[in-house]
Amino acid sequence: MEIRNCTALVTGANRGVGFAFTQALLETGAKKVYAGVRQPAAIADPRVVPVLLDVTSAKDIERVAAQCADVDLLVNNAGVMLSKPALADGAVTAFRSELEVNVLGLLQMMQAFAPVLSRNGGGGIVNMLSVVSLYIYPFNGTYGATKHAAKALTDAARVQLRAQGTHVLGVYAGFIDTDMAADVEGAKTSPAQVAARALEGMRQ
Ligand SMILES: NC(=O)c1ccc[n+]([C@@H]2O[C@H](COP(=O)([O-])OP(=O)(O)OC[C@H]3O[C@@H](n4cnc5c(N)ncnc54)[C@H](OP(=O)(O)O)[C@@H]3O)[C@@H](O)[C@H]2O)c1
Repeated sequence: MEIRNCTALVTGANRGVGFAFTQALLETGAKKVYAGVRQPAAIADPRVVPVLLDVTSAKDIERVAAQCADVDLLVNNAGVMLSKPALADGAVTAFRSELEVNVLGLLQMMQAFAPVLSRNGGGGIVNMLSVVSLYIYPFNGTYGATKHAAKALTDAARVQLRAQGTHVLGVYAGFIDTDMAADVEGAKTSPAQVAARALEGMRQ
């Protein structure tokens, strides 16, 4: 799909990869960018439209889908990683929290916005997945399990939304230089590069 002149909604848009997506969208000529955030008052960039959105809140999602009825590109970026090995103490609690955001939040956003995208000509969905959608790092086993599930839902949505012309893209990033990976040593990709490559992928 064409990014220029699109109307996008980015979840978790206040920092990290989500913030980079908002900047990349603006630089690429998006007509409007909604920044889905938990604290709209903290958004300083006048070029974006802040919207209150906690992706674990069905009420927020329903309201935002009505409020942002002109969206033709949904970027499901919001995510949480609690760095729990699968068999560690507290892993079930961590897994539940990660599932709420990384899987159920993403799924409910796709459900709510599928009709919006359809009405706006098909458009697209970008889901921020991970290399741990494809294999498991022991140190964040519960997070990896949620990203595996998010991949399955992304693939399922791609098939289901094909008929309405919605392009569904998964982004399989390694470590990115954000708060989420602050404790990780070694090479990390910049959030700007991840956002730019993902948008390039949408244009293919
Ligand atoms: N960093 C990496 O190494 C890496 C690698 C591969 C994939 N990813 C994925 O990339 C995406 C962005 O990660 P990041 O590195 O930018 O992480 P980050 O710096 O920790 O930022 C996470 C973002 O998600 C938002 N968020 C968390 N829970 C939310 C909720 N319930 N509702 C709405 N927003 C919520 C946060 O908002 P608040 O500021 O309000 O908490 C924040 O904007 C995630 O899906 C992550 O899994 C990251």
